[in-house]
This record gives sequence, structure tokens and C-alpha cells, in this order.
Amino acid sequence: MTDQNKGDRATDGMVDYNANSTAQQQNALRNAGVISDLAARVAKTSETLTFADFGCGPGQSTIETVRPALDIWRQRVPEKPMTVCHADQPGNDWNALIGLIQGDSGYAKNASAALVMTSVGSFYERMMPVGSVSLATCFFASHWLNGPVQLTAPDTLWFADLTGPARDAMWTRARSDWALFLRQRAKELQPGGYLYVSALGAIPEPDEINGTAAAGRTLYRTMQEVTAGMVDDGLLDRQVAERFVFGLWFLTAREARECIEADPELSQLFEIDTVEVITVAPGDIFAGSAADPEDYARRYTGYTRAFAASTLRTQLFAPSASETMSADRLEQMFFDRYEAIYRERTSALALEQWLLEVILRRK
Ligand SMILES: C[S@@+](CC[C@H](N)C(=O)[O-])C[C@H]1O[C@@H](n2cnc3c(N)ncnc32)[C@H](O)[C@@H]1O
Repeated sequence: MTDQNKGDRATDGMVDYNANSTAQQQNALRNAGVISDLAARVAKTSETLTFADFGCGPGQSTIETVRPALDIWRQRVPEKPMTVCHADQPGNDWNALIGLIQGDSGYAKNASAALVMTSVGSFYERMMPVGSVSLATCFFASHWLNGPVQLTAPDTLWFADLTGPARDAMWTRARSDWALFLRQRAKELQPGGYLYVSALGAIPEPDEINGTAAAGRTLYRTMQEVTAGMVDDGLLDRQVAERFVFGLWFLTAREARECIEADPELSQLFEIDTVEVITVAPGDIFAGSAADPEDYARRYTGYTRAFAASTLRTQLFAPSASETMSADRLEQMFFDRYEAIYRERTSALALEQWLLEVILRRK
């Protein structure tokens, strides 16, 4: 994927996405049964079938997200007009995505017609015509907040380890972004249409900071360890690092539900079908390489770099760069150090996956 590195969205310019999105691809495949079920429900009630995948990304996972619905619709109601819309930000690698859709692993080749569209923008705004969508998905994306965050957070770059006023400020932001995301989808959905969100989540865990354990904690804490080391070594600007936090929040089931039920508008717009956080086992996507520290560390570094590098570059490396130390060089040093830590501690730093699953029906 082309490295854009010029937008201001939290994830603009992600690198090597398709090669480094194992968890996302597994998630799309795991969700196929639920998507088929929802597609079968709307096939009965909706005359114009429109599937919109928000935060689709450039890779195979959006194809695997759409495929089960199209299969059901083609089998059961081939006479109804079908549209698929892939929605993401301007920096998404749209050419790569269209190539995949039309290619051997896509859903368009040798198949009956479905109109394929893209929508370019932010899912914190409306991305589809009002009342047009029968089935909406958003996988591994809605945990990115509506743009970058700057807080005074000297000890962490990750929302889950924030405490005191910084945590309160971040939660206020996360809560209002979740509500905004849902309000936009409510405008787009047909009555009786479904929204299926699958995002990184968190579970109650009394021994953890703030009493919750959030997905990916080992990865983010390793990134913080590297950041602190590079600040101490004079490579990263201390003030910049102390204000940098990834613009993310992984909701607990309670947080996700409460935002809907306590909101007079959202509770009228949606009927809750499912709100839960599931544990994905095994969470360690590279368990097969655990006996080979070099390979294990390389894979985790590739995986982390794919979702984190653009944010780090824009918000940490570029503002710390100087004439003698470029942002590219800082990025390389950062991920070299990250990889070295993974080589040493291997599966003690395995990914843990808690996923928030939300299914809402538009009233
Ligand atoms: C980790 S990728 C997930 C892609 C795909 N859904 C999957 O499961 O593999 C997150 C995607 O969300 C998109 N994204 C993040 N914030 C967004 C926003 N505000 N509006 C639209 N897309 C957004 C990013 O551009 C990125 O493609």
C-alpha cells in the first residue's frame, strides 16, 4: 500500500495492510455466519439490497465481509437489485482494493451483477444516501476516534493506561464519537436494516489499571517502552512524546450498551440485538512461530507497523525529527527496538484479542 502520510485522520497511510492483517482477515471469516444470517433477514424485507462496509481498508478482509451476504442474496432473491459499497478514507489504497474485488479472490468475477461502489470520506460523517443501506458492517475500524488526540499523558501512549483527568477527557471524546458514528449509520439505514460492528474491545479485569483489560495491551505497552527508551536516549522529543496518545478507545460491552440506552435519540433509532465482548482464542495470531524468536518478532513487528506506523510518524516521529535525524530513520529505529523486545520475550507479549460485537436493528 502506498504510504500517503499526509492526511490528518488517525490511520491515514497505513502500510503493507493486506500482508499484515491476519487478525482482521480471521475476523471477517469468523463473522461469515452472522453476516449470512443478517443478509437473509434483510433479503425478506428490503426491495433494494445495499451492503455498505465502513472502514473497509484495502485488503481481502472487506471482500470476505461482503461475500456471505452476496451469496445469500444471489441464491435467495436474485431478482432484487444489489449494491455493494466499500467506504473508507481518501488515503485508502482504492486501486489495490478494486484489483482484489475484480480478481480471482474477489466476488465480482464470473458472478451475477451487483453494483460495486466506493464512498470516500469519514464514517463520522454520512457516507451513504439517507435510508439506503440494508446491511452495514464496520470491522476493526470504529475504535479509531474522529481524528488525532493530544493530552498530557507522560507515561503512556495508550488510552487504557490513562488515569485521572486525561482518562476522563479521553472517555468523553470516545463516548461522543461512538454516539456520532451510530447517529450517522442511523441516517443511512433503511427501516429494518442492520448494523454489525466488530471492533477491538475490553473486558472487566480487577487487577488492571482502571479495572479493564483492553485488546492488544502487550503491543501498546511495548510501543510505550520503546518510546520511553528513545526519549531517554534523546531521539524523540520529550514534550511531543508526553502529549502523544493513539486516537483509539476499545469499548467494554457495558460502555457500548450504555451509550445507546442512555441516549434518548439512539435508543429510539435502534433496537439492540447483540452487545457483547468475546474472547478470541487463541489471540496469538503468530503462535505457530513462537519457537522461532526471529520469525515471531518479525511477524509481530510487521503486524504492528501496518496499523501503527502512520500515526506514529505523523504524531511522534515527524515532530521529533531534525536535520540529522529524519522521521524515516526514527521509524526504523523504533521498529528495530520493538522487534528486539519481541525477539527476547516472544510469547509473553502475544496478542490478546477481545472483540466488541454489536448488532443493531434500525427501527
Ligand atoms: C484496521 S483497518 C480495518 C479494515 C477492514 N475493515 C478489516 O477488517 O480488515 C481500519 C480501517 O478503518 C479506516 N478508518 C479509520 N477511521 C476511519 C474513519 N473515520 N472513516 C472511515 N474509515 C476509517 C482506516 O482507513 C482503515 O482502512
